[in-house]
Amino acid sequence: MAQQQHSSRSILIITIIVAVVLIIVIWPLSMIGKGSVTTAAGDEPEVRIQPVAKLELAKAAAVKSDGKPRDGATVYNSVCMACHASGAAGAPKAGDKAAWAPRLAAGTAALVKNAINGKNAMPAKGGNPDLSEAEVKAAVEHLIGLAK
Ligand code: HEC
Repeated sequence: MAQQQHSSRSILIITIIVAVVLIIVIWPLSMIGKGSVTTAAGDEPEVRIQPVAKLELAKAAAVKSDGKPRDGATVYNSVCMACHASGAAGAPKAGDKAAWAPRLAAGTAALVKNAINGKNAMPAKGGNPDLSEAEVKAAVEHLIGLAK
């Protein structure tokens, strides 16, 4: 019994050693082609944070005004979709004709005004003060188009 316990423990230890050796050998190999083979230790943190930093930049670029007005679909996809795709916070879902019918009856101008100024859980400009009124209007028209 004691002998068997001993041998199963050494098998476990050998397995761990083999796994560690494999990781040490294979991990640097997997870095080949990612440009960090020679200075794997030095560059490692940078390499790891890179994708996150890129994502944040891409997100900011999609939302930030660069002088050119974005079209309704772009604004909808970068800002409004957060609530209007899923119906989060009680938002009328994009394309849900029943939810939009009574709102459409109020007229485009009223909807644009509410989208710019906010209404109940709907934040002003969808929570993005960076948007111009024309961009919000374009996004509202995009939503109206989806609801027709
Ligand atoms: C944080 C979630 C959220 C975001 C982001 C959001 N909305 Fe809304 N929206 C709502 C909610 C909730 C309502 C329902 C408000 C109500 O009628 O009580 C609503 C309602 C609306 C309405 C109908 C207003 C009315 O008069 O009935 C329009 C139009 C609208 N949103 C447009 C937009 C546009 C355009 C954007 C993007 C620029 C946007 N929303 C982003 C939550 C959101």
